[in-house]
Amino acid sequence: MNPEKIRADFSIFSEHRGLIYMDSASTSLTPEPVLDATLEYYRSYNANVGRGVHHLSQIASAKYENAHSTVANFINAGSGVIVFTKNTTEGINTVASGIKWQKGDKIITSILEHHSNLLPWLRLREIGVEVEIINPESNGILDPADFEAAITDRTRLVALTHASNAIGTIQPIEKIVRICKDRGVLVLVDGAQSVPHLKVDVEASGLDFLCFSGHKMLGPTGTGVLWMREPVIEPLFLGGGMIEEVTLDHYEFAGGYERFEGGTPNIGGAIGLSRACEYLEEVGMDELRSHEEQLTGQLIEGLREIERVEVYGDPDPEKRVGTVSFNIDGLNPHDVAHILDESSNIMVRSGHHCASPLMAYMHIDGSVRASLYLYNTEDEVETLLATVERITKVM
Ligand code: ALA
Repeated sequence: MNPEKIRADFSIFSEHRGLIYMDSASTSLTPEPVLDATLEYYRSYNANVGRGVHHLSQIASAKYENAHSTVANFINAGSGVIVFTKNTTEGINTVASGIKWQKGDKIITSILEHHSNLLPWLRLREIGVEVEIINPESNGILDPADFEAAITDRTRLVALTHASNAIGTIQPIEKIVRICKDRGVLVLVDGAQSVPHLKVDVEASGLDFLCFSGHKMLGPTGTGVLWMREPVIEPLFLGGGMIEEVTLDHYEFAGGYERFEGGTPNIGGAIGLSRACEYLEEVGMDELRSHEEQLTGQLIEGLREIERVEVYGDPDPEKRVGTVSFNIDGLNPHDVAHILDESSNIMVRSGHHCASPLMAYMHIDGSVRASLYLYNTEDEVETLLATVERITKVM
């Protein structure tokens, strides 16, 4: 993979000379082909989908439907339903609200979760659902045996992240899914930080729900996906476009993805997201993964050599994505992030990363988080390392 060639597709690098963008775990940059596909909808066939007999609507509907198939192929979903959402949060909330919970039901999740994969479950405690939280090993990786031990006859769902948004560690979801299948428990995976970086295969992994965000994988903001193996949940939004028939006494929902996509969807965004999937496939997910592994190794090794720097999560690049969290002893992570920006044009996230319980568990208020993607280079990593070292010398 040639990052220089890839960077030519991202006009933001010519708009901002010297930009070092290491905040892709928050939102990724957007390449021209994705922008073109999105704008082409508005420029050439702007119409609503599934509602018109006129020819523009027919074109838009076909492209929108096709976008579902392209995204399905990207995660190897030969079956099941691809629902377009606005982000991972919407997907997870759709599942949390769509299951008919009963008092005494149990959900198992982990302390590693983003608030989006924690709060929707914690709120269910109000209606008598038990929520058990599993802690990881000291390297930030969950032990499947802990899930096996926690599952009871009342457990209905295990909800866990595939890769931690805060510390980057990859979780053994296949093993956990196998345990859950044996015990008849549904599994929801938050793929927000994995689908953009790893080949995720829903058929092979056996999970039941996969949620991810388009804007973290080169797609437009306001796009996301909920894939479900079986449409076993109630739709969250009732309204236009999701019904078979309606009278004042009776209504019947449509089948397929329409059932779960009430209201006019983000048509241009979804088409842009499907182009992003094609773009990633053109680059090659294996190529992308090995590029990121190499940069991640370089970054972690370099950070660990700097005095006063602590890096969180397993240091082995094979066991993590390129989301690297660290702190400089004695310095506030937000201050470090400001200096990285002001002195070297490096964009990173700082703070609790929407994972406050994990920060408390790690006994830190927050961290500096550099997150890498296909457009980052070895030189950029060297600049980050040199800047961090300089900060440790002067502050
Ligand atoms: N979920 C995004 C992050 O981790 C916003 O930064």
